[in-house]
Amino acid sequence: MNTSAANPGELAGRHLVLGMTGGIACYKIAELTRLLTKAGATVQVVMTEAATQFITPVTMQALSGRPVYTSQWDGRVPNNMAHIDLSRDADAIVVAPASTDFLAKLAHGFADDLLSTLCVARDCPLLVVPAMNRQMWGNPATQRNVAQLRADGIETLGPDSGPQACGEIGDGRMLEPEATYEAIVAFFAPKVLAGRKLLITAGPTFEPLDPVRGITNRSSGKMGFALARAAQQAGAHVHLVAGPVALATPWGVWREDVQTAQQMYDAVMREASDADVFIGVAAVADWRVDHVAEHKIKKTAEHRMPTFSFVENPDILASVAAIANPPYCVGFAAESGDLDVHGEEKRARKKVPLLIGNLGPLTFGRDDNEVVLFEAGGRTPLPRAAKQALAQTLIAEIARRLPDPSIIS
Ligand code: CTP
Repeated sequence: MNTSAANPGELAGRHLVLGMTGGIACYKIAELTRLLTKAGATVQVVMTEAATQFITPVTMQALSGRPVYTSQWDGRVPNNMAHIDLSRDADAIVVAPASTDFLAKLAHGFADDLLSTLCVARDCPLLVVPAMNRQMWGNPATQRNVAQLRADGIETLGPDSGPQACGEIGDGRMLEPEATYEAIVAFFAPKVLAGRKLLITAGPTFEPLDPVRGITNRSSGKMGFALARAAQQAGAHVHLVAGPVALATPWGVWREDVQTAQQMYDAVMREASDADVFIGVAAVADWRVDHVAEHKIKKTAEHRMPTFSFVENPDILASVAAIANPPYCVGFAAESGDLDVHGEEKRARKKVPLLIGNLGPLTFGRDDNEVVLFEAGGRTPLPRAAKQALAQTLIAEIARRLPDPSIIS
């Protein structure tokens, strides 16, 4: 699965103990450490003896920028309390890769080395990222242990399915570093959309003129994809309907690719009545040609210019807002001027409770954005921010405005 890379600062201030146990997947932890530190986390690596057979503490020290601990009897901890001190300020312990043996130890509360003792003595959340051969993962004892760990409140990330180091194919391989990173970020995100279904459009549409040409626009899809990622991290089930963009699918998001406005409309209307929230971020083409040429349009000897006649595309946002019991509808509008006038006018015209406006062409393809929220009660400007940070703010703003699911109307 494609996933997005780390965003600088999104784990700023987080302190993680990264516990490594023996397994070939140790090589993935080098990249995971790089992603975590790039995002601003401090990463304290603790390795079991077996882990050091697969990758050296020197490598992990260079990547994490901190001394690596491998033994309970390490003289660098003055009070000889490494098993308590190392996790004292931790926001979480992440064990990756977590071997079959280590899962068994955890499930039974064994504490016979530094890492297992740290886990037993912790007062912070524990996340395990299993990595093993498919038969080891499928073994009833492993499955019993994993069920016990989940019952004990320990979070399991993965495992993935696919080709394994032993040459076999099946469940048990460790999540890729990017997916592990995304799952860790999601773990820390407030679950303001827990259990909600979110439908979102993103990117441009492409309206063909002939088999090789078409009309599109400069939307990069970045804002819509950032919102999809933030909503997934906030606990929502996210269905992302994307026009043609060159972006990786955010982890855990269900993506459906479309080309034309009509295809986007069909995909959205199929799902709309089931959604709690609809966010239309796509820059949808307003018109399409009424007849797409069957063959490539050729130049003529007389240099006659081709002419096209257009028909209007359906307005997806207004159509969703008009269904019976619509989801909470949010529009986006990129304007080239008079944002206040156009933003409120557009919100009222499309009959949506919230419209997010920005001065558009300047932000296409950029990694940051500055927006104003328009709603019946007035306008609220938000400060300029990186698109991913802004997406988190917007998801929190949208969540605050949703009706309480426990109130049945
Ligand atoms: N939108 C939509 N379907 C369309 C056109 C727009 O769902 N056919 C949605 C966009 O996804 C966005 C909002 O409507 O959430 C505003 O898009 P915009 O292109 O600014 O609106 P238009 O109605 O096309 O207005 P304009 O005349 O300014 O182009």
